[in-house]
Amino acid sequence: MKNVKNYLSENKDRFLNELIELLKIPSVSADSAFSQDVLDTAETVKTRLEEAGCDVVEIHETAGYPIVYGEKIINTDLPTVLVYGHYDVQPADPIDLWHSPPFEPVIKKTEKHPEGAIFARGACDDKGQMYMHVKALELMVKTDQLPCNVKFMIEGEEEVGSNNLAIYVAENREKLANDVILISDTGMIANDVPSITTGLRGLSYVEVEVTGPNRDLHSGLYGGAVANPINILTKMIASLHDENNHITIPGFYDKVEELSAEERAEMAKAPFSIEKYQEALDIESVYGEKGYSTNERNSIRPTLDVNGICGGYTGEGAKTVIASKAFAKISMRLVPNQDWKKITDLFKTHFEAIAPKGVKVVVKPHHGGQGYVTPIDTIAYQAASKAYETTFGKKPIPQRSGGSIPIVSLFEQELKSKTILMGFGLDSDAIHSPNEHFGVWNYFKGIETIPYFYEYFTEMNKK
Ligand code: BES
Ligand code: MN
Ligand code: MN
Repeated sequence: MKNVKNYLSENKDRFLNELIELLKIPSVSADSAFSQDVLDTAETVKTRLEEAGCDVVEIHETAGYPIVYGEKIINTDLPTVLVYGHYDVQPADPIDLWHSPPFEPVIKKTEKHPEGAIFARGACDDKGQMYMHVKALELMVKTDQLPCNVKFMIEGEEEVGSNNLAIYVAENREKLANDVILISDTGMIANDVPSITTGLRGLSYVEVEVTGPNRDLHSGLYGGAVANPINILTKMIASLHDENNHITIPGFYDKVEELSAEERAEMAKAPFSIEKYQEALDIESVYGEKGYSTNERNSIRPTLDVNGICGGYTGEGAKTVIASKAFAKISMRLVPNQDWKKITDLFKTHFEAIAPKGVKVVVKPHHGGQGYVTPIDTIAYQAASKAYETTFGKKPIPQRSGGSIPIVSLFEQELKSKTILMGFGLDSDAIHSPNEHFGVWNYFKGIETIPYFYEYFTEMNKK
């Protein structure tokens, strides 16, 4: 691959400005108030793919937000890379905690990003990382170096569960046929410690509702005599972990893949400072399952967390009341071999079983998906590793992540291909949080690295 650096430096400002324009459109898929913006974003992505050199770009309507499909097929005897990404973003709230408006991107220096980072919702997850692929395509096409075929599939419902993408994939197996799937929607260890994500956790997301008396009651007249749904719900939630922070749902760990001592020793070699981790989060100590390190707890171990809880009176002043209902949203992150539907059933059965008399419990499964592990003994992984080595000057460390992209396991099931997760974000980039950002350096490093993956993957396939 020639002239990569030249092309990049000649087009730096434009590449940055194009991303900034994309980030200005508030494509929040969870909130219907933004539906026109989400649709506008799909149109923008379509135009940008055409400009970058795709020969065919289509907007595929779904029951939800559209999927943007693009392709450039140069020779059917050559391999095909399928790029997946998402143009939708998480809601920006709480807005008050942003230092600059979430859809008015600004570039500011940070400790981790001395060359500046773009602050905006979606900067890292996933518009910035998705757009690296569009610019990498432009670079390869305009410098006449695209070595193989490429397809793009950019969806607008990743942050709300990818339900319509799952249908699209199952219905378009031929069209989406590929030799490898390439995704930048994860992170790496640090700018001077490149890593390739080799695992994603699965997910089971549920909502629970506890109902006590048929109306809110005076907490003096009735307190102590009836089950208080909030007391009960919090007690039930607390019982889901034991004193060692193991999850108490019967059968929960049955299928969990245990790593060998060698694999765990290998994992422990990744550079990590517990002091810095604690300092960055302003916590005195980490917390979690007994017998596992922090990096194990957040990647190879399953977890259960309450994501939100509500009930009763939380307004100004005091109101003496026993609420009729209490609610919680709970996510379980799963590891290979745990089936998310089975886990959802186990949760439901257990949660209903531990409810005391005097309350009614309803468990509503919300969404979920399987975890994924990328094998590292493949041409695709070797090509990715070599690409990082070329642009970072260091071999990347394979590392399993704690996050989830449920559609990845479905890709394997439907399209029979493996996924390479080339993430360029940092954990500190605050994805899903206020002040999300993406390093300018990381953005350009991504655009620089991706073409080498294409080159090496094509070369290695010939051998
Ligand atoms: N890009 C993230 C997932 C991610 C981030 C994986 C960093 C690994 C490292 C994705 O957009 C996301 O937020 N996924 C959701 C699940 C989805 C079903 C809403 C998640 O992990 O909570
Ligand atoms: Mn994402
Ligand atoms: Mn996300």
